[in-house]
Amino acid sequence: MSNDFRIVVLLSGRGSNFKSLLEAAQHYKIVRVISNNADAGGLAIATDAGIPTRVVSRQAHPTLAAQKAEILRVAASAAPDLVVLAGFMQIIAPDFLAEFPRRVINIHPALLPKFAGLDTHARAISAGETEHGCTVHLVDSGIDTGETIAQATVPVAPDDTAETLGARVLVREHALFPWVVTTIARGDIALGTTPVTFSAAAREGAKARGFRLPPSR
Ligand code: GRF
Repeated sequence: MSNDFRIVVLLSGRGSNFKSLLEAAQHYKIVRVISNNADAGGLAIATDAGIPTRVVSRQAHPTLAAQKAEILRVAASAAPDLVVLAGFMQIIAPDFLAEFPRRVINIHPALLPKFAGLDTHARAISAGETEHGCTVHLVDSGIDTGETIAQATVPVAPDDTAETLGARVLVREHALFPWVVTTIARGDIALGTTPVTFSAAAREGAKARGFRLPPSR
């Protein structure tokens, strides 16, 4: 099985989505993990798996611009086919997006365009939503505003707390993200077109797993 599709992962925290990508890595190879947080749990997961890591923290750089330039340099030097944000808690600079046009994706714990930003589970409960979930989307210069690639839904139970709902969503994140990345690596999701296009196999695969794709246009 070919795994010469190169992925760089950016993360800031525990790294459970990164772990799910690692466990599913048959059609792609995670070649580098970059974190802006030296204490991110995802770094230990990468090291245990033999994946090179780099910490590029704000504190170690004189300015935010210098840190962002270093993140770009470290990512570009790994020559990725795709950059995957897996819990990366920093806004991506425009020059980073220019370096990797339509090749940076993120997972967000809500059904975008609903609940961009933080505290998505508590906000979904407060809003009385009966359905919630997660979205994999292209990254653009806004916060969680890029084109949606795929979504997975969960029901909201009447007695849910942000924690119980978040745990239910996270299970679906761990299924959705590896499926999307695998399907991109196999060429069944084409990010380069606007809008993103899906092969018949991708549409069938999504349907079988209960994932939502944008309607074909
Ligand atoms: C996930 O909820 C993801 O949707 C959001 O950040 C969180 C990262 O969690 N973007 P983890 O580090 O992957 O466990």
